[in-house]
Amino acid sequence: MAEASAVKLFDRLDEQPSDSLLQLIALANADPRPEKIDVGVGVYRDATGGTPIPRAVKKAEAILIETQQTKAYLGSQGDIRFIELIKPIVFGEAGAADDRIVGIQTPGGCGALRLGAELIEAADRQARVLVGQPTWPNHGPLIECAGVEMVGHPYYDAKSRTILFDEMMGAIGKARSGDLILLHGCCHNPTGADLNPDQWRAIADAVAKRGIIPFVDLAYQGLGNGFEADAAGTRLVVEAADQALVAQSCDKNFGIYRERTGSLFVKGSNRRTAEIILGHLQSRARTMWSMPPDHGAAVVRIILDDAELRADWNAEVTEMCARIRNLRARLAGYDERLAYIEGQNGMFSMLPLSPQAVLDLRASHGIYMAGSGRFNVVGLSDENVGRFAAAVVEKMDG
Ligand SMILES: Cc1ncc(COP(=O)(O)O)c(C=O)c1O
Repeated sequence: MAEASAVKLFDRLDEQPSDSLLQLIALANADPRPEKIDVGVGVYRDATGGTPIPRAVKKAEAILIETQQTKAYLGSQGDIRFIELIKPIVFGEAGAADDRIVGIQTPGGCGALRLGAELIEAADRQARVLVGQPTWPNHGPLIECAGVEMVGHPYYDAKSRTILFDEMMGAIGKARSGDLILLHGCCHNPTGADLNPDQWRAIADAVAKRGIIPFVDLAYQGLGNGFEADAAGTRLVVEAADQALVAQSCDKNFGIYRERTGSLFVKGSNRRTAEIILGHLQSRARTMWSMPPDHGAAVVRIILDDAELRADWNAEVTEMCARIRNLRARLAGYDERLAYIEGQNGMFSMLPLSPQAVLDLRASHGIYMAGSGRFNVVGLSDENVGRFAAAVVEKMDG
């Protein structure tokens, strides 16, 4: 028998840095002050501070338990009917009929982003993904983990509260044909600053002209300005480009975060390429999760296939969206230095705060937000929104 080696395999591992957002949640939970304000965690909260399960989801789950006959394997593409129902929500009726766009169910938006990166890597190891800064901190790890290089460019300046559009267009101008650009479809995380329709049009023209492939992350459709408006930019760039990817999530707009429900759609240059792409997506999925979890997609399918449940779900998303818009307007009304928040979209916004100011707000007011100054607008309540506004403006850099 071979002698045991001196260094044990897992002893070689370095300790991982702990997740700063999870640490923040733990700190906020441990804070005994009743007036504390937790705007760190990125989930929707209602007026009572809870993250409710939508009524339609509860009903669809009851139907699923009642009617499901088997839990036999579905296949690596997941629930095909789910994909058919999501496609028009993302692309509209015209896009849904486009047979150059193929889809596959994924474990949430994260799974879709990762699978998209795997497809890029399979097609061209030299391809790079351009990404505006700041972006959602998980974008880098998810995409680079597949072996795809990411190249950052400026997107937003927190101090002047503006999108750095010229810098973004400059980055597209310098990209190589066959590079990709990661775009937030709506409700930009972490800044809340979305491109306007003219900017989307300019990007659509530029990517089409230069052979750059849009890779859109659409994780918050419905929570900005409604389903159609929130998908308008995505539809523009996908239509303009010869090839494109869209990583979609149902986790926020159906309130089913832990069910890990999403999809990846990819547009090929023609029907034949699209079929080949779908084959690659399925074989790459097999090497990671084999097939996606069923429950969330089955619930979404039941809701979207039932007129009454669908209308009720739509009404609830409209309420969520209205609550977010209302909190944005109220924050903006407290001080002109917060006025920019009203024109932004989705759950997040960024305050021009130094890391020290973020720590001071935590110590003196029990306000918990990410070190970058990102906060979850909808983590606020009628009772504390004024207190929050007063405390943060005092600490803002400009
Ligand atoms: C910008 C962005 N993309 C993708 C995701 C992933 O969503 P999911 O929970 O469906 O994996 C998130 C989640 O926070 C996100 O903020």
